[in-house]
Amino acid sequence: MTLDLPGPKSQKILDRLNKLNIAHYDPYPLVMSQHGSGCYFQDIDGNLFLDFASQICSNPLGYNDPELKEVIKRYSYRFPIKFAGQDFSVKEHLDLLEELMKIAPKGLNMAFLVNSGAEAVENCLKLAMRKQKNSEFGVAFEHAFHGRTLGALSCTSSRLIQKQNFLQIPIKKLPYDDNALDVLQNLINTTKDTSHIGFVIIEPIQGEGGYTIASRELMKGLRKITKQNDIPFICDEVQTGMGRTGTWWASEQYGINPDLISAAKALQVGAAIANKSYRPQAGTISSTWGGGHALDMAIGLKTIEIIKKRKLLDNVRKQGIYLLKRLYEVRHISNVRGMGLMIAFDLPNKTRRNHFIIECLKNGLVLLGCGEASVRVIPPYIVTEEEIDRAVEIIQSVALKVSDPAFKHTGKICQYLTCGEVNA
Ligand SMILES: Cc1ncc(COP(=O)(O)O)c(C=O)c1O
Repeated sequence: MTLDLPGPKSQKILDRLNKLNIAHYDPYPLVMSQHGSGCYFQDIDGNLFLDFASQICSNPLGYNDPELKEVIKRYSYRFPIKFAGQDFSVKEHLDLLEELMKIAPKGLNMAFLVNSGAEAVENCLKLAMRKQKNSEFGVAFEHAFHGRTLGALSCTSSRLIQKQNFLQIPIKKLPYDDNALDVLQNLINTTKDTSHIGFVIIEPIQGEGGYTIASRELMKGLRKITKQNDIPFICDEVQTGMGRTGTWWASEQYGINPDLISAAKALQVGAAIANKSYRPQAGTISSTWGGGHALDMAIGLKTIEIIKKRKLLDNVRKQGIYLLKRLYEVRHISNVRGMGLMIAFDLPNKTRRNHFIIECLKNGLVLLGCGEASVRVIPPYIVTEEEIDRAVEIIQSVALKVSDPAFKHTGKICQYLTCGEVNA
């Protein structure tokens, strides 16, 4: 028996939300409840789901973690919890920055805390451009996703719908493969002065673009060329960072230290992290709530402490290997790939992929799409072997079912068939 989604309570809320949310979003056919434990959550209709999407990589510790709930309790006696943090300092700001600097790659020793991944990217771009002084253009990659504020969006090219009609900052695009090194070198050779190149920005693993993993040659080569030519090198680790790939930062696995890192998601706040030589003149960058959301910063701090204390990076690596091994055995899916618990596979086309995600959901497993026809498998860091076995069992049976060309969903669920496709 599969779940009948959305349930009646969820349907009512989703219909009303859809009338008011101008973003015209494409939600999953459920509304979250407060109930859940570990990798499982319940919707408000009482349906139980095994979550292998982790709130798009932003929920590393799963649902209702007792230690995180203790932090929330501490703040239930305090109002406000959002302060104008760049003007009125709170201790949580210092506590999180100190802990973040302990795990930041060598040479990165200061950060600006903001409210989202896009803002983290935006502020990395600004820090880089201010240092370069003569910036005329930046360099980014085909199929990249860096967020939706206009600077970050200029570096994004995963989907036309995200960019159409929007003014942009000048960006030159490189292919996301080893040819990029020659293209970048040519660009440098034909640019009068490399101080005109504001930055090079890359995701070590492209997220929204399709979970494509950069080669060692590409990452090392980019680091070398940007260093030789004094061009700020930004790794966008909004999705890959904070342990998702089995090390704190994916760039560590390439043996490189970028000049700047954008982080967010699992950190619970956004962060533009950089070497102190990037510190701009006072007043250059700020935001009312930047470094001022006391609860989010306290949760971010506790998240880092828990990952360390419970040795969750070891679990990410161990379960990542196990999950890959199990997925290699599944028929009717292809191109299984990943690092740590940032794993994906492909279906034959977009329609099959969307049917697949919905059918998994009806069987109680939450997955997320990316790229043209890929499926992300990104459970919380606390996932167990038994939960992986359960997920793979569902993936296996749904892959077989969806491989039948005649397979098709009908009814109210069809309104949600692009589920997972528009999300970052
Ligand atoms: C690599 C990367 N950069 C930036 C962003 C934007 O983050 P946010 O959605 O928090 O603005 C995302 C979001 O998915 C991302 O994956």
